[in-house]
Amino acid sequence: MCGIIGYSGHRPAVPLLVEGLHRLEYRGYDSSGVAFEQAGRLHVVKAAGKLAALEAKLENNAYLLATSGIGHTRWATHGLPVEKNAHPHLSQDGDIAIIHNGIIENFQEIKDELSARGHTFLSDTDTEVLAHLIGEERKSAPSLCEAFARALRRAHGAYAVVMMGVEEPGVIYAARMAAPLLMGVGVGECFVASDIPAFLPYTREVVFLEDGEVARIEGAKWQVFSLADLSPVKKSVSHVPWDMQAAAKGGYKHFMLKEIMEQPRVITDCLTGRVSEGSDGELSVHLQELDDIPVPARLHIVACGTSYNAGLWGQQLLENVGGIPTDLDIASEFRYRDPILLPGEAVMVISQSGETADTLAALRLAKEKGCRVIGLCNVVGSSIAREADVVLYTQAGPEISVASTKAMCSQMVLLALMALYYGQRRTPAVFDRELLAALHALPEKLSAALPAMQERAGQLALRFASSRSFFYLGRGQCHALALEGALKLKELSYIHAEGYAAGEMKHGPIALIDPQFPTFALALDNALFPKVKSNIQEVLARQGRVIALVQEKNGKVPDLSVEELWVLPAAHPVISCFFALPALQLFSYQMADYLGKDVDQPRNLAKSVTVE
Ligand code: G6P
Repeated sequence: MCGIIGYSGHRPAVPLLVEGLHRLEYRGYDSSGVAFEQAGRLHVVKAAGKLAALEAKLENNAYLLATSGIGHTRWATHGLPVEKNAHPHLSQDGDIAIIHNGIIENFQEIKDELSARGHTFLSDTDTEVLAHLIGEERKSAPSLCEAFARALRRAHGAYAVVMMGVEEPGVIYAARMAAPLLMGVGVGECFVASDIPAFLPYTREVVFLEDGEVARIEGAKWQVFSLADLSPVKKSVSHVPWDMQAAAKGGYKHFMLKEIMEQPRVITDCLTGRVSEGSDGELSVHLQELDDIPVPARLHIVACGTSYNAGLWGQQLLENVGGIPTDLDIASEFRYRDPILLPGEAVMVISQSGETADTLAALRLAKEKGCRVIGLCNVVGSSIAREADVVLYTQAGPEISVASTKAMCSQMVLLALMALYYGQRRTPAVFDRELLAALHALPEKLSAALPAMQERAGQLALRFASSRSFFYLGRGQCHALALEGALKLKELSYIHAEGYAAGEMKHGPIALIDPQFPTFALALDNALFPKVKSNIQEVLARQGRVIALVQEKNGKVPDLSVEELWVLPAAHPVISCFFALPALQLFSYQMADYLGKDVDQPRNLAKSVTVE
C-alpha cells in the first residue's frame, strides 16, 4: 500500500507533491521520492525513511520551475525499504518515470525477457521492470500513451501506475487495475492520486477512475481512455464535501470502520501473486517464501492478542488441510516456559506490527534453541520481519485504529494459504480445491455483504448497549472467533465479555447465565452446528438472551428460537469465518460508537506493545 500523487498545472510542482505526500502519510511509508521534468530531462530525487529525509534532499535542488511531476510514498511489499527500491523508477534510457502501487505478478518473466535484450536493473522492484517495459514498447509504439497501454496490457496483477515522459513535458498519464486511483480537477490544474487528501486543499472536484482506465492530464485538460483500445471514456466529475479528517478516513467516521470495510480489498491483496489459475482453470497456491525450507515436522505458533486468535483459527486448518502437527502458545507464556523444540520443527510468530516485545522475545528464544522461525507480519522491515528466517507478509496495509481488524483477516488468509500450500506439498498431494475456489471468490461476496452487516450490527448494538457482560460462544474455528469477538467488545466498549469454547460452558461459566447476561453464539453452518445448537438450548433454558450468528442453508434460516438471529450468506464452512469476523467487529464498533467511546484509541491500549 503506497501513496501516489501526480500533478500538472501552474504551481511549483515539487513542494505541492511533497505536501500531498504528507497528507497520505496515514497510508504508511518507509521511503519516498519525486520526479519532475526540467530543461528537457527527468530528475528523480528519493530517500529512505521519513518524508523529512526527502525534504532535506530537495533543499537547494533547482526544481522551482517544474510545474508538473509525480510523487510516491512506499509501503514496502516486496524488496527492502531502501533508497534504490523507492519510487519513481526510470526506463532504461531515463526518459520515462513511473510510480506504482500494487504488485505486477508476472514481473519476473518480463524482467528475464528484458534482461535478454540488454536491460539492466538498479532495484529489486517489479515497478522498475514495468518502467523498462514501457520504454521498450516506446521503441515501436506510435505514442507514449500507446506504449504505456501496451506495457500495462502485458502486466498481470493489481496496480495503480502514474507515468511522465520527457517527450511530453507537462503531461501525466495514470492507469488503474484493482488499486485505488482518482483524479482531481482544479482550475487550470489537474491531479491524480491514490486518495483524495493528497489534493484536497486545491480541489474537491473528483473523477473516480475504474479498473482498465487510463487518464491523461495536462494543466486544465483531462481525458480518460479505455486501456483495451484507448477509445475515449465519458466520465463525470463528482463534488466531495469532505474535510481533511473525513478524507483520511475515506469518508468513514472512524479508521476502525474504514479498516473493517476494507477487508475485501485486503483479501484480494493477500491473494495477489499467491493464487494462480492454470490454463486448465485449476487454481494453485504459491508461497515461494516457504519453498526453500523443509516442511516442518511440527509448527509452534506463537503470538499475542488478536494475532494469537488468528493463530488459533489457523491451527486446525494447518493440521487438517496442511497435515502439519501444530501447537499454539501465548508469546508471554512461551518465552518463560522453556518449551521443547525438536530438530525439524519450526516456530511461526504472528504479529501485525512486528514489534510486540513478547513475540519478539519468543522469536529470539526459538532461534537460540536452533529452531527455524517463520514470521507472519504486516509491517515490512519491522524487528520480527528482520529477525525471522522467513517472512510471509500479510499485505493488510497500515492499520491505524488501535484495535486490530483487517490485520486479523489478512492473517487468516495467509494461514489458509499456508494450509493449502502444505497440502500441495504432502505426499500424496492434497488439493482442497473447494476451499481454494471459495477463498478466491470471497472478496466480491464479502464486499456485497458488508453494508447489510453494518446495518444489522447497528440495530443489535442499540438493543444490547445497556448490557454489562457478554458471553461469546463458538466451537472449532468459531472458538477462535468467539475469543476475538469478546476481545473486541472489551477493547472498544469496556463491556465485560468472555469468549468460550461452547462445549466448555457447562463446566462453570453457565453459572453466570441470567436474563442480564446475554450470549453471542456463533452457530454457523458447519459440522458442529448441531452441537452449538444444544449449547444455545442450555443458555435459553436458564433465561439467557441469545444473539445467534447463523447462515442461510438452501434458502432457509435455521430455527433456533433465540431473541435475535443474525443471518449471514451461505458459504464454505471455512470461508464463513471471513463473514463472521467482520460481523463481530462491526457489532463491537457499533456498541462502542453508540456508547460514545473513543473507538480508534481506546483507553489503556497501545497499537504496538513494545514492553513486557
Ligand atoms: C496490542 C494491540 C492488539 C494486538 C496485539 C498484538 O495489544 O492492541 O490489537 O493484537 O498488541 O500485536 P501484534 O502487532 O503483535 O499483532
